[in-house]
Amino acid sequence: MDYKLLIKKALAARKAAYAPYSNFTVGAALLTKDGQIFTGCNVESATFTPGTCAERTAIFTAVAQGARDFEAVAVVGGKADADKLDYCAPCGVCRQMLAEFCLPAEFAILIAKSESEYIVKSLAELLPMSFGPEKLR
Ligand code: THU
Repeated sequence: MDYKLLIKKALAARKAAYAPYSNFTVGAALLTKDGQIFTGCNVESATFTPGTCAERTAIFTAVAQGARDFEAVAVVGGKADADKLDYCAPCGVCRQMLAEFCLPAEFAILIAKSESEYIVKSLAELLPMSFGPEKLR
């Protein structure tokens, strides 16, 4: 997997973020097992609650287009006016949503500051003892 390309796609997706209330813009790029990349950004609302994160935008976009088997996601985020990015780890709700469509031990989460500066964690590391779809089968 080309981590640099995935991060590059996340950085590009962040540019579309709609975050006038938090001023915190996030981009995500989700890689499928067959090599497709779906991107997302955060989208906020004046009524706050309906807004969603970049990661879930990417997941929902992928699923709506028929993709369900995911291998990795790259996430970049920070204050819109920041000169340099800090690491932005996926929120708990997005971790749970990722667990719906992957094997947590095998799914890679790239938390990036730039194409060359990133941390890689498995979903199992970030969401230990998760409750997943297998529990309901
Ligand atoms: N946000 C994301 O899009 N992804 C994350 O992993 C963390 C938070 C968004 C949600 C909200 O629009 C803004 O960042 C501030 O929380």
